[in-house]
Amino acid sequence: MKSVYIETYGCQMNVADSETVGGLLARHGYALAATPDEADVILLNTCAVREHAEERVLGRLGEMARYKQLRPGVVLGVLGCMAQHLKGRLLEQNRFVDLVAGPDSYRRLPDLLEQAANERILDVRLNHTELYDGIEPARQEGVTAWITVQRGCDKHCTFCIVPAVRGRERCVPLEDVLREAETVAARGVREVCLLGQTVNSYHDGRHDFADLLRAVAQVPGLLRIRFTSPYPTDFNDRTIEVMATEPKIARHVHLPLQSASDRVLEKARRRYNISGFDAILRRLREAIPGIAVSTDIIVGFHGEDEAAFRETCDYLEKARFDFAFMFKYSKRSQTAAYRWKEEIDEETKTRRLQRVIEIQERISREIQQACVGQTAKVLVEGTSRKSGDRLFGRTSEFRQVVFDAEERGGRQIRPGDLVTVQFTSATGHTLLGRLVEGDGHEDLHQRR
Ligand code: 5AD
Repeated sequence: MKSVYIETYGCQMNVADSETVGGLLARHGYALAATPDEADVILLNTCAVREHAEERVLGRLGEMARYKQLRPGVVLGVLGCMAQHLKGRLLEQNRFVDLVAGPDSYRRLPDLLEQAANERILDVRLNHTELYDGIEPARQEGVTAWITVQRGCDKHCTFCIVPAVRGRERCVPLEDVLREAETVAARGVREVCLLGQTVNSYHDGRHDFADLLRAVAQVPGLLRIRFTSPYPTDFNDRTIEVMATEPKIARHVHLPLQSASDRVLEKARRRYNISGFDAILRRLREAIPGIAVSTDIIVGFHGEDEAAFRETCDYLEKARFDFAFMFKYSKRSQTAAYRWKEEIDEETKTRRLQRVIEIQERISREIQQACVGQTAKVLVEGTSRKSGDRLFGRTSEFRQVVFDAEERGGRQIRPGDLVTVQFTSATGHTLLGRLVEGDGHEDLHQRR
C-alpha cells in the first residue's frame, strides 16, 4: 500500500482542501502518513497570497529534496495556490518537483500521481464548477470540522491573487452543506466552521447565507457555528438577524478592513469606504452585544501617503478590534496592481507595520484584561501541551482559554464539552480561568 504525506500552508481553505485531497487519495488506496519520513508521496499544499508565503514553500521544497535523494522513488508534488500561480516555472526552477497541480485539479490526482512516477506533470486547469462534491474529506479528529461552502472569488481586489489562482465564485448547495454538517455532528464534532473566500456572499441559486446559517444552526449535536471570511458589504439585515437570534452562531466575526483611507480603499477596489465599513461594524455590534471583531490590515498599498496611513491608525483606535492580522503589501503578478509603479519603499512599510502592530497589540491586551473577572462558556478542545492536567478551549468570541481540569459532578471534563469558566487572569493571547457552575448551553447574549 502506498502512503502519502500532506503538508499545508496558508488559510483554512487550504486546510480543508488538504482534507479533501487526503480523503480522495485514501479512497484510491493510499494510507495517510503523519510524517514525510517513509511516505511514497509528499505533497505541499501551498499559499500564494504574499511573496513570503511562497518563499517559505520554496525553502521547504529544498528540504524535501532530501527524501528524494534517500529514496529516489518518492513523488514530490506542489498543490494549491502557489502551484496555480507559478505553474511550469515550479518545475523548471525546482528539479526535484515531480508534480504541480492547482486547486481545481485534485480529482485527477490519483492518475496524476501514477503518471508522475514516470514523467514530470503539470495540471493547472481551473474549472469554474468544481466543488469536490461526492468526496468525503479525511478530516482531522477533533472538536471542529471545516466545511467548504464556497470556492473561488469574484471580488477582484487589485492587490489580491485569489481570483487568479482559485477562479470564479461558486457555492455548494445548501442540502449538501447540511448533509456534511449532520455527518460530522453524528461523529462527535461539536463545532463547524463554514469556509469561503467571501463566505457571506454565499448563494446556491435558491438559498443565501442567512438561510445557510439558520439551517446549519438546527443540526442536532452541534454546539457552535463559525464562518470565515465574510466580505464587509456582503452582510445584510437577514444575516445579522440570524446571527443575533441563533445562540449557536459564534459571537465573532472576521471583518477584513485592509485600510481606513478612502483613497487606498478605492485603489484596492474594495466595495466600501470607511464610513460604509464603520456602519456595518456598528450594526453588528448593536445587534450582537459583545461580538468580537477581528480584521486584516495591509500597510504600504498604493495611495497610502502619511495622511492615509494616519487614518488607518486612528481608525484602529476608534474601532478597537479584538485582534488583527497585519501585513506589508506584497506585489503579486496576475493582479491589477502588479503593473502599477510602487510608491512606498520597504523601510516605510516596515515602520508602518510596526506602528499598527504596536497600536493593535495594546488594544488587544486591554480588551483581554477587561475579560478578567467575567465568566463565559468555553468549548473544550483538548488538554494543554505544557501540563496534561489543564484543558484549553475557546469562548464564543474565539478567545483562547486555559483552565484546570477538575472533575465536575464526579465526571471528567472532555474535549467537546461546553463548560462555564471564570477568567482569573490574562496572559498575552490567552485567558486563564477556573471552572464554575453552569449548564452546557450557549447564552444568547453576553455583556462585554
Ligand atoms: N499583500 C499583502 N497582504 C495581502 N493580503 C491579500 N493580498 C495581499 C497582498 N498582495 C491580505 C489581506 C487579506 C488577507 C487574507 O491577506 O489582508 O484579507
